[in-house]
Amino acid sequence: MDDTARQAHYWNTAGATKTFTHPLHGEWLAGLSHDSRILDYGCGYGRVTAELSDLGFTRVRGVDPSPALIARGRASRPDLDFAVVESPPAVDRPAAGIDVVVLFAVLTCVPDDQAQRALVAELRRVLAPDGLIYVSDLLLQSDRRNQRRYAAHAERGGGPYGVFETDDGAVCRHHDIAWLRSLFADFEPVDERRIDVATMNGRPARGVQMLARRR
Ligand SMILES: C[S@@+](CC[C@H](N)C(=O)[O-])C[C@H]1O[C@@H](n2cnc3c(N)ncnc32)[C@H](O)[C@@H]1O
Repeated sequence: MDDTARQAHYWNTAGATKTFTHPLHGEWLAGLSHDSRILDYGCGYGRVTAELSDLGFTRVRGVDPSPALIARGRASRPDLDFAVVESPPAVDRPAAGIDVVVLFAVLTCVPDDQAQRALVAELRRVLAPDGLIYVSDLLLQSDRRNQRRYAAHAERGGGPYGVFETDDGAVCRHHDIAWLRSLFADFEPVDERRIDVATMNGRPARGVQMLARRR
């Protein structure tokens, strides 16, 4: 199995049983029309898709490359609009057809710089001019356990510093804030906040949320 196939396998097996926790900061969405076209990209089992719908947004679609996670979302919320992303990062949407993209804890699953750039470029393509992207992700952690696993992965030639392998086989990435900001350099920054979250394996971690507007 190559790296892409291994990652896809993870998100269809062990990854499909996890609980995700990044919080939605409702204030950032408070001024939006309830009929804004919202794409929850990498929606997992639709936790945030459901929260957006429950906030009154009527045109929310959750998409994810993992059929197992999409099936879990459909089982728990059959009223919501879910779809499988057949060949990520390609989104089955016309250019400028989305008002808001939500990207929660997805970059952490995409370790490679170039793959992250391609993903952000595709999301920029589908965003309407002045559309918003709301990103939530994990920062580099300062504890010894994480530092050890970043170093171990780097020694194996495993890509940018901050990439590591979890005990159950996912390859994930924690980010330098400067890298995350540079990834969204084509967007106008609107706001940024730090968050404390539990990882999908239940450990405390420091993260960041960024709201940016498509130029
Ligand atoms: C940690 S989960 C977060 C799920 C959801 N956004 C949430 O916060 O509840 C990461 C999600 O990213 C998806 N994913 C993994 N690799 C991806 C890729 N290359 N492109 C898009 N999504 C991916 C996984 O299938 C998984 O659903």
